[in-house]
Amino acid sequence: MRTPLIAGNWKMYKKTAEAERLIEELAGQVREVKDVEIVVCPPFTALATVADFINRNGGTIQTGAQNVYWEDEGAYTGEISAQMLVDIGVTYVIIGHSERRKHFHETDEMVNRKVKAALAAGLNPIVCVGEVLEEREAGKTDQVVAGQIFKGLEGLKAEQVAGLVVAYEPVWAIGTGRTAEPRVASETIHNIRTIVGSSFSPQASDVVRILYGGSVTPDNIASFMAEPDIDGALVGGASLKAETFTKIAMYQKDGIVYQTR
Ligand code: PGA
Repeated sequence: MRTPLIAGNWKMYKKTAEAERLIEELAGQVREVKDVEIVVCPPFTALATVADFINRNGGTIQTGAQNVYWEDEGAYTGEISAQMLVDIGVTYVIIGHSERRKHFHETDEMVNRKVKAALAAGLNPIVCVGEVLEEREAGKTDQVVAGQIFKGLEGLKAEQVAGLVVAYEPVWAIGTGRTAEPRVASETIHNIRTIVGSSFSPQASDVVRILYGGSVTPDNIASFMAEPDIDGALVGGASLKAETFTKIAMYQKDGIVYQTR
């Protein structure tokens, strides 16, 4: 049984005071959410504030970073290590988001080093994969995503892969309001699960959690969660408001789209 996970990626939004307001509101609103893990990923400047708030209030939300560097410490101006994240109470880290691949030229090899460093420090990586529109239109989605999985997870043990979170985010669906059809997203996610099974172990394939990401909203979350292979969502835009993120976290598999408060 895989525990559903709803993660909010705040990207480069929310100054400290705004982040504090959002986490306060969220913590109040998601109190009734049961059996769903909730993670918020603020920008680095607000991470400690949010992690502190969560630790002081003993809530159910966990904190994630949006990036990490693979070295433990050293002369790497501007970088943050996995141990530094653990030090402030962070438990998750997004690795290889398509915006980092696109704007900061992150490669699968870099993703691989980051995943290993995160695991060594005891962080839970959320490894992002996904194809761009031209790749989808050329029928290369499975091939592209398989390559990202092979290279990004290369050298990991099956037990490590079992504990991972993978986020399948078609790049053309991120921030565009255009989602993949749940059925289509689910097929790609099923394919990722099959690759994990053949490259690592059948057990890892059963246990690894795979999220969908790309224009998830309160109105479409239930249709994604109704797919048995989809274990949750990585949410960008709709995670910036407590109300919409709470509605997403309160999706119900039994057909209730969300509970209104
Ligand atoms: P979006 O972003 O929900 O705004 O499309 C998703 C993501 O980038 O993880």
